[in-house]
Order: sequence, then C-alpha cells, then structure tokens
Amino acid sequence: MAPVPLSPPIKVGHIDDVQELRKGKPTTIPERFVRDMTERPEPATALSSPTDIPIIDLSKLVKGNKDEILQLATACEKWGFFQVINHEIELSLLESIEKVSKEFFMLPVEEKLKYPMAPGTVQGYGQAFVFSEDQKLDWCNMFALGVEPHFIRNPKLWPTKPAKFSETVDVYSREVRKVCENLLKYIAMSLGLRQDIFEEMFGVAVQAIRMNYYPPCPRPDLVLGLSPHSDGSALTVLQQGKGSSVGLQILQNNRWVPVQPIPTALVINIGDTIEVLTNGKYKSVEHRAVTHKEKDRLSIVTFYAPSYEVEVGPMEELVDENSPCKYRRYNHGEYSKHYVTNKLEGKKSLDFAKIQA
Ligand code: OGA
Ligand code: NI
Repeated sequence: MAPVPLSPPIKVGHIDDVQELRKGKPTTIPERFVRDMTERPEPATALSSPTDIPIIDLSKLVKGNKDEILQLATACEKWGFFQVINHEIELSLLESIEKVSKEFFMLPVEEKLKYPMAPGTVQGYGQAFVFSEDQKLDWCNMFALGVEPHFIRNPKLWPTKPAKFSETVDVYSREVRKVCENLLKYIAMSLGLRQDIFEEMFGVAVQAIRMNYYPPCPRPDLVLGLSPHSDGSALTVLQQGKGSSVGLQILQNNRWVPVQPIPTALVINIGDTIEVLTNGKYKSVEHRAVTHKEKDRLSIVTFYAPSYEVEVGPMEELVDENSPCKYRRYNHGEYSKHYVTNKLEGKKSLDFAKIQA
C-alpha cells in the first residue's frame, strides 16, 4: 500500500490566552490582536441605529399561526437572523448552562489547559480557526465540544470541573436539539415544503457546542472578539449571557448591525447548509463579535447540521429558470472538514459549493 503522505504540522505561533493577558492590566494590545485598519470595528456612534432583528414566537408557530410562518419566512429571507421567544427551554436551564460556562472560564488556566484544543482542531479549550503564525487573533477564549452523535465526542475533553459541567451540557443540548428540530419544520413550511423534509434528509444530525468568552478589552477599537464569518451549520442557536455587553453584529447591506439581546430569547441564524439547500433563498449572513472596554461577554453557541454522510445540494423545489442552481452537490462531511480547516473569513467558506457564474 502506498504510504499515506503526512501533512506538515500546522505552525500557529504563540497564542496568548486572552484572560491571562488581561490579568497584567495591559494598556497596549499585543500586535497579533491588532487588526488592519480595514478590519477594525467602527465606533458605536458610526453604526446604523439599532434596527432590531425580527422576533419569532415559537409558541405561535406550534399553534399553526400562519402569520407567524410568514414572519419567519421574512426573517430568514431578509435577515438570516432572528430571536426566538417562548422556545420552551426552562429559564433555570438557560441559567445553569451560563453558570457552568462562566465557572469553567474562571478556572485557573492550568485547569482549562487539561482540555487543550490541538492546532487545526476545533474541540477543547483555546482558539479555533488559527492556521498560521501571522494570522490575527480574536480577543476571545473558546471552549468547544462535539455533542451528537456520540461518536464525535472526545471523552478526554469533557471537563470534570465544574462538577455539573458535562451533565448540564448534555441536558441543555437535548433541549436545544428539540428547538432546532422544531424550527426546521417551520422553516420548511415557510418555504412551502413538507415539514419533515429536513429531518428526513439530515439523518442523525450533528450537534456541537461552543462557549465563547470575551474578556473586557482596553482597546476595543483595535481588535475583534470574533472574526467575520458565516456558520457552516444548518442552524445556529446562540444564547447571550445575562448582563453581557452587546457584542454580536450582523452584516446587513454592507453595514454592521448590532444585535440587541432580549433576555431569555435565543438568537437563531441560518447557516451555510440551509443557504445551499434553499439555493440561496435563505442566506447565511456574515456576522462577527466586538469587545467592550469594561464589560465581559459570554455566548453559548450550538451548531446543528446534517449527518456527515448526507449529500447536500439545492433542493429541486427551489431551482427553476428564474432561480438557476447556484451550488454544486457535495458530501456534508467534506464540507465540515473544509469549514474547520480554514480560517474564518466572511462568507469565503461557501466558495467550496458555489457554481461560478
Ligand atoms: C459563533 C458566533 C458570536 C458571538 O460562535 O459562530 O458567531 O456573539 N458567535 O459569540
Ligand atoms: Ni457564528
């Protein structure tokens, strides 16, 4: 058998732990975090006044409210982002996941580094999506786990501290999964499709969780909390920590629009996979996170996607003379691999699937 060529090890250089950096009360920012002029966030005063992203009431969808389905269609088509209320996840569970996440990030760095994210991988504690020594870093510490199906779990990376961490992730993930399954039904209906179409297509859906912790930053004007990107998922569910600063921004008509947190609501966004399946009708919108001078911020993000063996391509119902096919068919596992082995860079991830006109 021909020897398998070994890919060269990825050189990522020294990656400072942002929380540790903070402890030195720096007044300047290490060069690797300082963005080029064109990438720096504009001052809050230059942002368009907060246009509120749509709010969708899941309890109305469950009751079959037609108007709410229309609202959902508009939210998906015009925004790619919405906030869901009445999602039926208990407040106490939202609070518990926040509590254990925060407690995890507050552990001594040596404890957190028992679960290191190896360069080029996306599970564990560290900075994901870093592939070179000169790549700019995000002002953020991350902890990520594959959750479902079980074979994607790396048991060595499931923390034993805080004591309730792993159990809470499990319970929370089961609840978020139900929200995703439900939303996909209504998203299908909003497209005039059979409500089970996504569930049947996805097989046993892949689910991952990532906690992002953004410490305060002495120069929020120079750094980004999280680089602009679209998500590789079908759907993403984001919970914003109570009392966190406003940090998530979405790109709309070439302007960054801040997402105002609504207490207990979940922020949902369309990922690349739904963009491809709907032949671009529902787009995965580019977004990023910015930091705050005094306040920290926590977000808990769930990515929900088809099983790796699923073939993804525009659904035939959404392709016709007026909407010619914009994406090729591909294997979702290959797409996932492509996504996690490239740096976050706007909507570049979808070049993988685009048919060049
Ligand atoms: C993400 C993401 C935004 C945030 O994790 O993919 O977009 O506000 N996070 O943390
Ligand atoms: Ni994202």
